[in-house]
Amino acid sequence: MTIRKRVMVSMISIGVAVFAVWCWPHATTRPVLAEEKRSGNEAAFEKTVRPILSDYCVTCHSTEKQKGELDLERFTTVASIKNKTEVWEHVLDQLATGEMPPKSSKQMSADQQKQLTKWIQETLNEVALANAGDPGPVVLRRLSNHEYT
Ligand code: HEC
Repeated sequence: MTIRKRVMVSMISIGVAVFAVWCWPHATTRPVLAEEKRSGNEAAFEKTVRPILSDYCVTCHSTEKQKGELDLERFTTVASIKNKTEVWEHVLDQLATGEMPPKSSKQMSADQQKQLTKWIQETLNEVALANAGDPGPVVLRRLSNHEYT
């Protein structure tokens, strides 16, 4: 190996090592944060979101009635919502445009509307983040790429 090459290889190694050290705390603390967030999200679902839905939406969107072919009663857990994000994107649309609940029905307070919208947005964001992948494995893959140089 020429000296020039040697210097280049060691510079690349140092670069990779610095990058790995920088990434490591981020990669290892991330799952803990996700866990904490999930439990908050779960608690808010039971305490706030489900009661709002059953007061203002399930009257028409029950498993039995399914107005607009939409059954919101079957969503009894956060996981069930995360499995059907396309339904909840529709719900967000309807809330944003003010079409649901229909004008003729009992209306939510501005506060309830805000809480419901915010919770759905956050839950959909979590799914999007989870699908984007954890940065941990990416770091490891980059490290092993180094073996080929
Ligand atoms: C008085 C009955 C009634 C209530 C209460 C009601 N809806 Fe609806 N909803 C309907 C009917 C009827 C349709 C189908 C016709 C339409 O699209 O206007 C519908 C359609 C929908 C749709 C489907 C729209 C699409 O994409 O096709 C969504 C989402 C929805 N409602 C969400 C909600 C949410 C969220 C609430 C509570 C905040 C709610 N609805 C409360 C009667 C109701």
